[in-house]
Amino acid sequence: MKKYLVIGNPIDHSLSPKLHNYWFKKNNIKAIYEKKQVKENDIGGIISDIRSGKIEGINVTVPFKKSVIPFLDKVEIPEKTQSVNTIYIEKNNITGSKKIVGRNTDTLGFKYSLEHIKYNVKGKKIFVLGAGGVTSSIIYALEEMEPSIIMLSNRTKEKAENLKKLFPKLELVKWGDIRNFDMIINTTSLGLKENDKLPINYDRIGSDKFFYDVIYNPKKTNFLLEAKKSGHQIENGKMMFVYQAQEAFRLFTIAPNARAGLVPSINKKVLQLLEND
Ligand code: ATR
Repeated sequence: MKKYLVIGNPIDHSLSPKLHNYWFKKNNIKAIYEKKQVKENDIGGIISDIRSGKIEGINVTVPFKKSVIPFLDKVEIPEKTQSVNTIYIEKNNITGSKKIVGRNTDTLGFKYSLEHIKYNVKGKKIFVLGAGGVTSSIIYALEEMEPSIIMLSNRTKEKAENLKKLFPKLELVKWGDIRNFDMIINTTSLGLKENDKLPINYDRIGSDKFFYDVIYNPKKTNFLLEAKKSGHQIENGKMMFVYQAQEAFRLFTIAPNARAGLVPSINKKVLQLLEND
């Protein structure tokens, strides 16, 4: 039985095992996908387990998306994202060689989630809150969609400044100030807890804006609830999560020397699976 893992800390909330185990079953693949809470110094050992064949592939979540990078043989990510969330083995049947490859499927997940609801970023004013693990992937994806401006605000200024070094076109905004925008994206962890509140004065935002939260559990953070009350369009991170997982599954199922893997279906059943928690 092939074994897959999602690693992170905390990891309890992860719905990746549910999704991947469902897809493995649907595609008649004998494999099991588990979650594992790890510490920074466990990472080397886990990568060795991939090398020795004990583990077939892993997904990586907060806070290890950057720290796994030095352990890999090949990193195929947009460099600016500095973020790997999917690790798998690339086998060459002819030479017998094995390479441990890291990819970033968050950028694609974010892009597909917007295509799914037909939201067009081109020419729009985007306001990003946060400068955490997933933020660089989102900015990278956004830049490809050609917005007119990307503003970014983070409580800790240094982290925002670090992102600006990677993405010089970013316009940094002081934490607590909100500028005029078409779409606002919460990439902070504020909202995971029930009483979490972002510093936004909803009375001064205008109308018909688009509020996107990367968080999908809870389904509606205060950020989205308040926005909805004021009549704005809202979207949580569920479809981004599902699409990043779909791409990870495809990478996990690439056969040696083959070009593509299996693209598992996203249907009502799959989406319902994620509702029951
Ligand atoms: P990491 O910082 O390890 O990448 P993350 O969960 O990916 O962790 O990111 C946390 C994000 O949420 C950061 O942007 C963080 O802001 P800081 O850089 O100032 O820490 C933000 N965040 C978390 N708690 C917050 C709070 N109480 N107020 C404002 N921002 C908060």
